[in-house]
Amino acid sequence: MKTADLFRTKHGYFSPDGTEYIITTPETPRPWINVISNGDYGVTVSQTGSGYSWRTHAQLNRITRWEQDLVRDEWGKYIYIRDEQARVWSAGWKPVCGKPDRYECRHGIGYTVIDSRSRGIETELLIFVPNDEPVELWQLKVRNTGRTLRKLRLFTYLEWGLGATPDWHREFHKSFIETEYDAGSRAVFATKRLWEVPGDRGHWNTDWPYVAFHSSSRRPVAFDTDKESFLGMYGSLRMPAAVKKGILRKRSGNRLDPIGSLAVDLALGGGEESVLTFTVGAADSRSQSEEIIRKYRSAEAVETAFQDVRRRWRSLLGTLEVSTPDRAMDIMTNVWLKYQAISGRLWARTAYYQTGGAYGFRDQLQDSQVFLPIDPEQTRRQLQLHARHQFRDGSVYHWWHPMSEVGLRNNISDNLLWLPFVLVNYLRETADFGVLQSEEPFLDDNTPSPLYDHAARAIDLSLGRSSARGLPLIGQGDWNDGLSAVGLEMKGESIWLGHFLYGILKDFAGVAERKGDAARAALYREKADRLRIVLNTEGWDGEWYFRATKDSGEKIGSRENAEGQIFLNAQTWAVINGVADPERAEQVMNAVERRLLFKAGPVLLHPGYRKTDKYIGYLTRYAAGMRENGGVYTHAATWAIAAESVLRRGKVAFEMYSRLNPVLRGMHPDEYCVEPYVTAGNIEGPDSAFYGRGGWTWYTGSAAWLFRVGVEHILGVRPSFDGLTIDPCIPPHWKEFSVRRLFRGAVYHIVVRNPHGVQTGVASIVLDGQPHDGRCRDGTRLLPVFQSGSEHRVEVVMGKDVKFS
Ligand code: GLC
Repeated sequence: MKTADLFRTKHGYFSPDGTEYIITTPETPRPWINVISNGDYGVTVSQTGSGYSWRTHAQLNRITRWEQDLVRDEWGKYIYIRDEQARVWSAGWKPVCGKPDRYECRHGIGYTVIDSRSRGIETELLIFVPNDEPVELWQLKVRNTGRTLRKLRLFTYLEWGLGATPDWHREFHKSFIETEYDAGSRAVFATKRLWEVPGDRGHWNTDWPYVAFHSSSRRPVAFDTDKESFLGMYGSLRMPAAVKKGILRKRSGNRLDPIGSLAVDLALGGGEESVLTFTVGAADSRSQSEEIIRKYRSAEAVETAFQDVRRRWRSLLGTLEVSTPDRAMDIMTNVWLKYQAISGRLWARTAYYQTGGAYGFRDQLQDSQVFLPIDPEQTRRQLQLHARHQFRDGSVYHWWHPMSEVGLRNNISDNLLWLPFVLVNYLRETADFGVLQSEEPFLDDNTPSPLYDHAARAIDLSLGRSSARGLPLIGQGDWNDGLSAVGLEMKGESIWLGHFLYGILKDFAGVAERKGDAARAALYREKADRLRIVLNTEGWDGEWYFRATKDSGEKIGSRENAEGQIFLNAQTWAVINGVADPERAEQVMNAVERRLLFKAGPVLLHPGYRKTDKYIGYLTRYAAGMRENGGVYTHAATWAIAAESVLRRGKVAFEMYSRLNPVLRGMHPDEYCVEPYVTAGNIEGPDSAFYGRGGWTWYTGSAAWLFRVGVEHILGVRPSFDGLTIDPCIPPHWKEFSVRRLFRGAVYHIVVRNPHGVQTGVASIVLDGQPHDGRCRDGTRLLPVFQSGSEHRVEVVMGKDVKFS
């Protein structure tokens, strides 16, 4: 295989260093998108050139209109090209859908490029968002590949949204939008005199507080902001009336169905190239928008901003790098999982399948774990943000909207526990115990309270929500949102939640101890011991743990059930957290392998429900094999990899990892359909007519988790309070791999050799040239903490497993 052909299919391939995915046809089986964001402003862009823009919140503050139609994929911001013979095509494939002589869409880290050639004209459209400004830049290079002079007129097109989406009542909302063209700025401006987010009087009688703009670096010959005159009444995007005629009507004001369109002329001699830039943005004020427009009229400023974006991403992605015998794992770990988690999940929180924009209490906390080896300060901020979205009694919002701060409080039982869970992981990474004293208010009480207290309240509230026999109550669901009706009467129990809580109790007892809170440490240990016993007696189903009980006491996820007999999470977390003793751990993971593991990874439950059940929840309403109803739910599937590695089953752990790995799944594009460079939220399970098909890409906490389990469980480089643990669990045929990782400011260059073909076990470590014998309490090998700024070489030889032989 040529390197340039990395993981090539009929739709595309990875660049040699894995940092770009090059799509070679506009007609992929589903839209294959990029989610580009600077943490405030962002855009999605698909390989057809479609997509949308937002600022801060993709749902409450959509800048350009878009409708969720993944078949047509035809809402976007477009550039039409019209030549001297009145032939029309577009820089992206949509909306004209011509037959370009060449078409390539390269999704990169923080940018997308669409290269295309039609009728002797080459265009290269680079789309990106500068690091610190609320604007997107479209740098367009146009080249005349022929010998004779070509005269082109370009028309841009977008529809202003300016507020909440979906804007199902356009006729109402368009009345409040006002547009204006300013020749001096070479720009169209749009404002809106109404916003759905309440203003200072707590009422939505308020202005949309931004100024939207769309400008061109080259002086436009005309503009239009009226959809009717641009498309023509009953017209279409494919061939708008204005483009057909080659004339824009220069209409602006209010009472229009507001769009933004600029026309610019280009005359290109043979072989000549011209570079121009269009902007779209939403600034805080007119003057800020004018400033941004002026700045990016300069081609150098655009270039500098692009290099800054690349530099920032390089530094974010560069703090942890692996090199393994598996290129597919390297590409995902080094590049795309981090990018997906940061750009897609933490900064943008939006993509084609779920346009969101809100913060999920459990979701973004889990996602923020990706920052631990990159910039743990970001994880800390996330913890603090979520602590501020907790009530004094320990309960939390299920999700909340930034901007409006509207949130949903419900009885889903696990949300609050992710706060202590991620806090403990943050402490393992940083040993920054000072964070426990950092103070945040509650939603219903402004008195600042230490993070330690926030976390303890979450645990205490969970402990209080327990059934008579000592199992946690599931309420309106736990991690599995789809178990939405199991415990509506607050009687049903969750075994998974018990496993999860058990681990948190044990870990947090350790934190309490370090903090000198011996009473709490003792209490949590005692509760944990008790819970473990109850889970293993009351929660045991004979061959595996059942999943939950309904309010009626009936079991779910039990061999007694015809459907949904065994659930994945109730097994994996028993192993990860050590609820199951070693023998039982083997037994339940054997059951997972036998009953849940299919070609695309372990499914969430099996068999899928074919009958709906109002006492279980909406997961039974999905078709069997889909999403939470028996699909591979990537987020949860990653935990099976962790569990297998706890059992030292390196071969199976890696096999599961590979089955989930989108790079490899993507080698069957007709079956898998979705992007090969980001994780799918779910892959259809064996009960589905579309077995193997991916869905909901860019979604769920799967990226951060796949990243974590890959590095920490398979490669076995794991942070702990006392240092960096080295505990690989790999397929036996791997001869060598390396990990370069930043840990508490020091760089560790770790090379692991496996001369005897084992799956696990460390025979020897040489640290900076000296034999090293550090060990954790459980016997796993430990590297010491070094001074920040230092660099260290670590040579590990795998062999007879000291701990587990
Ligand atoms: C979705 C939710 C996540 C939940 C999962 C399982 O991904 O965003 O919070 O845990 O579904 O139901």
